[in-house]
Amino acid sequence: MSPTHPANIDIAAALTEAQEQYRARYPKSLAQYEEACAALPGGNTRSAIFAEPFPLTMVRGEGAHLWDADGHEYVDFLSEFTAGIFGHSHPVIRRALDQALDSGVNFGAHGPAEARFAAAICARFPSIELVRFTNSGTEANLMAVAAARAITGRGKILVFAGGYHGGVFYFRGKGSAVNAPFDFLIGEYNDIAGTRDLVTPHRADLAAILVEPMLGGSGCIPATREFLAALRALASETGAILIFDEVMTSRLAPGGLQEAHGILPDMTTLGKYVGGGMSFGAFGGKASLMEWFDPRNKDGFQHAGTFNNNVLTMNAGYVGLTEIYTPERAHALNAFGDGLRDQLNAVVRRRGLAMQFTGLGSMIGVHMTAAPISCEADAAKGNAALLDLFYFDLLARGIWFAKRGMMALSIALDEADAKRLVAAVEEFAETRAPLFNTL
Ligand SMILES: Cc1ncc(COP(=O)(O)O)c(C=O)c1O
Repeated sequence: MSPTHPANIDIAAALTEAQEQYRARYPKSLAQYEEACAALPGGNTRSAIFAEPFPLTMVRGEGAHLWDADGHEYVDFLSEFTAGIFGHSHPVIRRALDQALDSGVNFGAHGPAEARFAAAICARFPSIELVRFTNSGTEANLMAVAAARAITGRGKILVFAGGYHGGVFYFRGKGSAVNAPFDFLIGEYNDIAGTRDLVTPHRADLAAILVEPMLGGSGCIPATREFLAALRALASETGAILIFDEVMTSRLAPGGLQEAHGILPDMTTLGKYVGGGMSFGAFGGKASLMEWFDPRNKDGFQHAGTFNNNVLTMNAGYVGLTEIYTPERAHALNAFGDGLRDQLNAVVRRRGLAMQFTGLGSMIGVHMTAAPISCEADAAKGNAALLDLFYFDLLARGIWFAKRGMMALSIALDEADAKRLVAAVEEFAETRAPLFNTL
């Protein structure tokens, strides 16, 4: 699409046109997608990355840049949904992986790497005294929630509408029929009084409160400190275990949002970038809870996992956390994100568009509404067709991000990349402003 394309006054027609241009622009991605459909349901093995009418196929990444199968180049403003914080193939990570491979992998034994990586995590995240590794954030949450139920002897798990804690913990929209079969109470995010009312009849059976300190997948909606403090108090009063899912938010301050807010959960789950870009998850917390997983404790819990201590993740994660994403780097990246978000919001505010960029630090949500957003229901009021249009327009201008309106920054991005995003949003705002007037 030409950046000077005149705005179509009808949103639906503009979207149809953008989709037609998309089909024409990415024939190799379409062919790849059709081929994938022969062996993968809907050509997909990861629901979050599917996009209508068909997803793009990426074939190469370098630093903060990506190339698709049709040869288009993008600035990567998705950073693998927060896991790709180091940029593509960071030399320090690469060296750690090469060194690990030089010594062999798959020993079926304890190795030195997991202990030093675990120590680095315990030193970094204030609530984590002891930690165990898993292969994904989903698995980390499964273990944390299952442990909370076993330790407390209770059944109910409080979660929040819009929360996402993995493939079997999906509380966005109508939820998911393949969620783990736990007994969930679903509260409204940032609603202290409503949450207390919801829990009141179940206080004696509340095993855990599982919460993202900022809703990530549902649009980068931060929790208020008061809300997190109220959950802390509720857990302490009822004897439930408070679990912060910091799979995404751990990148937002050196010690995660728990450190930024000064509110400590009983357990924390981690994932994404903490594994250095390899498959990763972890759950940790108070020693008194985590000791249930001490194999010397004959009454303790089982937690096996062939790849829990896989040497690639253990080595990549260690250098990622200690040599690359240091506390100083974390502060700098999040300051860069705050500045960028301000610039983006200034663009849409100047034109009076019903649009805003939410989030904290290096995570940015895009919403087609100017009204305040503090929970999933607020975000749902945004215009979905305009958000799709924004996606197609920005892709055509070489900006890669998630179609649902999510961006995450990597340390490989620079000021020129940020300028390119701001310019793309300026162009969108200019060419599509008339569509906002039809709302
Ligand atoms: C907050 C949160 N928790 C858990 C998960 C699940 O992690 P994984 O995809 O590694 O299973 C995700 C993934 O996006 C997430 O955003």
